[in-house]
Amino acid sequence: MPSILHVNSSPRYAHSGSLQLARHFLDTVQGAGSGSFELETLNLFDDGALPAFGRTAAAAKMAVFSGQSQTPEQITAWESARAVFDQFAAADAYVFNIPMWNAGVPYALKQWIDIITQPGWSFGFDPETGYRGLMEGKQAIAIHTSGVYAPGVPAAFGSDFSSTFFADWLEFVGIQDATHVRFAPTVLNGDVEATRQSAEAELTSAAGPFAGKLAALGDLQLVSG
Ligand SMILES: Cc1cc2nc3c(=O)[nH]c(=O)nc-3n(C[C@H](O)[C@H](O)[C@H](O)COP(=O)(O)O)c2cc1C
Repeated sequence: MPSILHVNSSPRYAHSGSLQLARHFLDTVQGAGSGSFELETLNLFDDGALPAFGRTAAAAKMAVFSGQSQTPEQITAWESARAVFDQFAAADAYVFNIPMWNAGVPYALKQWIDIITQPGWSFGFDPETGYRGLMEGKQAIAIHTSGVYAPGVPAAFGSDFSSTFFADWLEFVGIQDATHVRFAPTVLNGDVEATRQSAEAELTSAAGPFAGKLAALGDLQLVSG
């Protein structure tokens, strides 16, 4: 059965505008009724959601890069990272909700990216041709929120290194079928409800094709399985 991994990178839960939109999108995909799918949610800010990726894990990564063997401690750290990657790789489709934090992505999302973006796992490297994403044939939707920043605001109202970084990362790992929807600004806004409704409408339109591709994948899996 096709599967969706929903990665929630807001810790604001009941108060989160991006999470509310992600749930709307998932409900609409489900309501499209074009086949069933499995849904897993990863709340990145939950306690214990992610292993640390610090001194030992970074050394484990560099051992892989330089073809050296890992110490027992490094093997343990590498296996913890691998478990996070395996959950990512097992999904056919992704829903990300991403509030802007200080012009970038929230640190828990960056931590998740740093854990799973490993050579031979999500990307390959060739000294002649460069990097190549290995997560092909998957689709993603990313919902971006920001309180003050919105496209076209004067420079004094902030910059966006969040959606740009995230779009680049998706491409880097080979997820080319990606749709980005923005709900902004959520704070400095005279009619925030209208802005939210417009993002919701965009997500409603995106849900049909997203569900259709999942259903087609389900048919394919039935034939090949
Ligand atoms: C730690 C933190 C940093 C933030 N930094 C920015 C920022 O740089 N630019 C901006 O426009 N909004 C910023 N915001 C506001 C959030 O992006 C905004 O409230 C967003 O709608 C929150 O989404 P959520 O409700 O899904 O958590 C920040 C909020 C927090 C908590």
